[in-house]
Amino acid sequence: MAEIDYSSKIPNNVNLADDRRLQRALESWQPKFVEWWKEMGPAGFQGDEVYLRTAVDVGKEGWAHFGHVQMPEYRWGIFLAKPEENRTIGFGDQKGEPVWQEVPGEYRSDLRRLIVVQGDTEPASVEQQRLLGKSAPSLYDLRNLFQVNIEEGRHLWAMVYLLHGYFGREGRDEADAMLERRSGDPDQPRILEAFNEKTPDWLSFFMFTYFTDRDGKYQLGALKESAFDPLSRTCDFMLKEEAHHMFVGASGIGRIIQRTCELMNEHDTADISAYGGINLDTIQRYINFHYSVSMDLFGAPKSTNAATYYSAGLKGRFAEASKDDDHELEHSESTFLTIDDGKIFEETSRALNLVNDDVRSDYSEDCGKGVRRWNRILADHGVDFEMGLPHLGFHRGVGPFANVNVSPEGVVLSDEEWAESAHQWLPSEAEQAFVSSLMVPVYEPGKMAGWIAPPSSGINTKPVDFDYVRL
Ligand SMILES: [Fe+2]
Ligand SMILES: [Fe+2]
Repeated sequence: MAEIDYSSKIPNNVNLADDRRLQRALESWQPKFVEWWKEMGPAGFQGDEVYLRTAVDVGKEGWAHFGHVQMPEYRWGIFLAKPEENRTIGFGDQKGEPVWQEVPGEYRSDLRRLIVVQGDTEPASVEQQRLLGKSAPSLYDLRNLFQVNIEEGRHLWAMVYLLHGYFGREGRDEADAMLERRSGDPDQPRILEAFNEKTPDWLSFFMFTYFTDRDGKYQLGALKESAFDPLSRTCDFMLKEEAHHMFVGASGIGRIIQRTCELMNEHDTADISAYGGINLDTIQRYINFHYSVSMDLFGAPKSTNAATYYSAGLKGRFAEASKDDDHELEHSESTFLTIDDGKIFEETSRALNLVNDDVRSDYSEDCGKGVRRWNRILADHGVDFEMGLPHLGFHRGVGPFANVNVSPEGVVLSDEEWAESAHQWLPSEAEQAFVSSLMVPVYEPGKMAGWIAPPSSGINTKPVDFDYVRL
């Protein structure tokens, strides 16, 4: 296992210096990446010093170094988790056999596709968030935004390394295409729909990092199970960075709810919009929107593609080893929620065909944990309101509930009933415009915008009023 080599152009722990061809190929991709970063990364701030963490080790402890750097100077690198000795395939037809260090010919195009779809989301989110720095509620938040952006850039590097290293010419072409697609571009959109939506304000950003980055956690977790060992190790290390992104979301939403409660108690009213806060029902509508579009990222619950990937050992379930079954799923059954003729019911199917739904259901359960924490904040402030996640069938674009009307409570509705009530459940344009109007930048160390409470502590034991970004 190589230590991280910081002396070469591309920091890495994959002995890049020993593979001159690969090194040269990646070194010729590097300037294209930096060019993309400058064009599509954070708008402004590129010359400012940001207090960022950089990976310096892949072990359990002390893996990151913190310091002020200008973003274009960040050392994006290639880091794989340490190999697990004698690792064997944990699921599918080849369960128990040694994992692969090279790509088997018959799985080449499926594996490449999985890597490309994952890789494409990384630069996409940077593009979606590129304007947010201009309206950051504090320097602490501004720094967190840039940390997330920088690491999504590194996640692109992680996937591009695999494409260059294991997929030849086609892999190199795919790596170039990653820098050519653009979030929301009608001609060259990003691959997945949720990554073509705008992230127009900070409430959306916190929702995105809570719900959509968490989809990333579950996708990476499923890919970490892969029999293709370099993919597994890559995803393992990406998950470490991903945890902070979800922390940003969970704590960000919690701080907004806290501030809303304070304003409600201070002014003795539920409508605090006149006092520069975000009402609880608005926050609930943003939850409804982001949770439902993020669930679409798991694909249809019943999927023969997912079954093929599973049997072949390419992509498992989240925390595969923790599942109490035979890890082949050929002969077991499971159920999933579906709808037919206006009725919602549990359908039984071969478990192998329901791998997507298994990962999605673990994700939903995980999403619920943050909601419970937010509800504790509400209870602690004596506010009689509970946040919740909408029904699985609410506002879906993928799977059996696509194009049917289901309320957040799970009631099937006619088109007319939906049209009458949708404004209660999804953010209206006026509401989004109001949220946007609150987004005025606060760049003074330790100061916060009026719609969000300060964090309980700073980053890396620094105080909240630390100069996280030196403007
Ligand atoms: Fe990522
Ligand atoms: Fe992320």
